[in-house]
Amino acid sequence: MKIALLGKGKTGGKVLEQLIAENIPHTVFDSKNPPTLESLKGHDVVISFYSGEVFLSYLQVLMDSKIPVVTGSTGMKWPENFDILLKEKKLPWIYASNFSLGMNLVHQMILIMKEAGSILNDYKFSMHEVHHTKKLDSPSGTALSWQKWSGHDFPITSERLGDTIGIHEIKLSTPTEDITLKHEVHDRKIFAEGAMFAAKKISTLAPGLHQFQDVVQSEILKGKKHL
Ligand SMILES: NC(=O)c1ccc[n+]([C@@H]2O[C@H](COP(=O)([O-])OP(=O)(O)OC[C@H]3O[C@@H](n4cnc5c(N)ncnc54)[C@H](OP(=O)(O)O)[C@@H]3O)[C@@H](O)[C@H]2O)c1
Repeated sequence: MKIALLGKGKTGGKVLEQLIAENIPHTVFDSKNPPTLESLKGHDVVISFYSGEVFLSYLQVLMDSKIPVVTGSTGMKWPENFDILLKEKKLPWIYASNFSLGMNLVHQMILIMKEAGSILNDYKFSMHEVHHTKKLDSPSGTALSWQKWSGHDFPITSERLGDTIGIHEIKLSTPTEDITLKHEVHDRKIFAEGAMFAAKKISTLAPGLHQFQDVVQSEILKGKKHL
């Protein structure tokens, strides 16, 4: 498997460390060496940790390359009917706003919190996220995913502080109690591990746009132990 790594910044740099440690052939694409149809030839999987805007600017070349893509780029909207387009072109792509494997446990917990209304009358959700000052998007892609998983609309507050990698906290409050679920990243290595997990799985997936959480969940259902 030869990897085309888009971005070797704070997060892509961790993927690069893992590729080197595992002796996996790769090419790094950054501002000085942007991906082209020619330079992408011979790669089996693309892993992107470009910002969303930069990733979108290379969307067409990535489609044309016909190489499966694993992307963690955030702060972007997928073009309309992109999943259908990938199916037509017979290409599997995986995306995640957060490649932490532990995020899958959080996903399951939020799906339980989603059902609050079945036993509570007077409740509300709120959410707070903290990231480093260089983060371009706000609220974070992860915060938006959590909100979507919760099935509720609620305010998300964002804080940009030092070099904080990522803290997300969702709170379910009633007049008499608070339930708080917090996820805090200590090392960007977890995003690299998740993206590599996705890159190794992608050739087994049907064409289309897959959410990483669904890929991990189906592995768990198969009885395989990855957590
Ligand atoms: N899904 C997840 O699990 C996850 C986790 C963490 C971060 N992220 C997301 O990943 C993205 C990157 O975050 P980061 O903190 O790693 O960013 P970063 O440190 O700023 O790195 C960005 C990389 O993109 C390259 N780049 C910028 N503009 C380019 C262009 N026009 N053409 C080619 N390459 C270009 C940069 O290369 P140069 O240095 O040569 O400019 C650099 O290697 C963000 O969207 C962030 O939210 C996702």
